Amino acid sequence: MRIFVTGASGWIGSAVVPELIGAGHQVLGLARSDASAEAIAAAGAEVLRGGLEDLDILRAGAASSDGVIHLAFIHDFTRFEASIQTDARAIEAIGAALEDSCKPLVIASGTPALPGCVATERDESPSDGPAAGRGANARAALDMTARGVRTSVVRLPRSVHGKGDHGFIAILTGIARDKGVSGYVGDGSNRWPALHVLDAARLFRLAVEKAPAGSVLHAVADEGVPIRDIAAVIGRHLNLPTAPLPAEDFGFLGMILAVDQPASSILTRELLGWQPVQVGLIEDLDKGHYRTPVESALRSINSFFCLSMLSAMCFMKRRKSSFSSLLKPARFLSSTNRTTARIFCATLLPF
Ligand SMILES: NC(=O)c1ccc[n+]([C@@H]2O[C@H](COP(=O)([O-])OP(=O)(O)OC[C@H]3O[C@@H](n4cnc5c(N)ncnc54)[C@H](OP(=O)(O)O)[C@@H]3O)[C@@H](O)[C@H]2O)c1
Repeated sequence: MRIFVTGASGWIGSAVVPELIGAGHQVLGLARSDASAEAIAAAGAEVLRGGLEDLDILRAGAASSDGVIHLAFIHDFTRFEASIQTDARAIEAIGAALEDSCKPLVIASGTPALPGCVATERDESPSDGPAAGRGANARAALDMTARGVRTSVVRLPRSVHGKGDHGFIAILTGIARDKGVSGYVGDGSNRWPALHVLDAARLFRLAVEKAPAGSVLHAVADEGVPIRDIAAVIGRHLNLPTAPLPAEDFGFLGMILAVDQPASSILTRELLGWQPVQVGLIEDLDKGHYRTPVESALRSINSFFCLSMLSAMCFMKRRKSSFSSLLKPARFLSSTNRTTARIFCATLLPF
């Protein structure tokens, strides 16, 4: 198939394009800048220059293709309503170009939030609250089924993670750096669903290839990871304490952190035979993708010190050194690095 992908240069699009090409499809990627055009071409796709506001270009891209995956979105949360309207016009333009063709149109949206309940594909997209606009656009896309378009909506979780992610987890990590605390809202028990970006890319491919018209799909692997657990890993990697913070300290993310929003993907797995195979969110976070190079270097230095201290301890133990002489290096470490000192002292306990 020749597939028109909007947002081909974005986080998810950059994984979707190679997934499609790897499965034998051709890709036409929308690019609004030279940098995006270069990235899309380097991935092996054809480039269509234009933006989400260029409705004629969107129509031409859709009309010249066998299907469309619409991922582009203006993530400017200070002008969110304007972004929703641009998205609505883009979906309508693409859908109109595919009318009566039975060609697939797959659009990205978000899993709904049903505090205390696990949201499924059968739950309606939100019609009120901050995500109401995205919900309305998803419903408008699904309504195009009646106009002869094989539409499907892929509802993504709060974190689509992996190396290079610049989404909510990266923002949370940045806030932790600024505040000196890796924070969560309330008691941190609110849950976020999550999925690795490569599993998301495979689901988009399956959706464009074979999702029945009108499908609502959930791109979810982890049904609900408590925010406190996410904050704990971020804190460990940045060597910061973990603690509750007021929702206002997180800016726009505060209202998203304040809501419990687990989601499942059982129906999606049954429908398309899709299985997430990549690592879960906590394991992925533990790989250190969200650290800066300097933070990673400091962690390596710490590990080196720990190993050196362990070797020294083994050596001293063999020589039956006193406990107090063992504590001297720990005191030195505690003045330079809390975490290293903690690991060092924990290692000392058995001695
Ligand atoms: N990542 C997540 O965790 C997550 C979770 C839930 C839902 N989603 C949804 O999934 C979709 C893809 O997300 P993403 O994470 O890949 O987003 P992203 O990394 O921010 O990429 C956005 C893409 O949209 C393009 N774009 C933005 N404004 C545009 C405009 N005016 N004209 C043309 N293209 C424009 C960008 O082009 P440039 O490269 O030129 O900037 C980029 O290719 C979005 O609808 C997003 O809301 C994502």
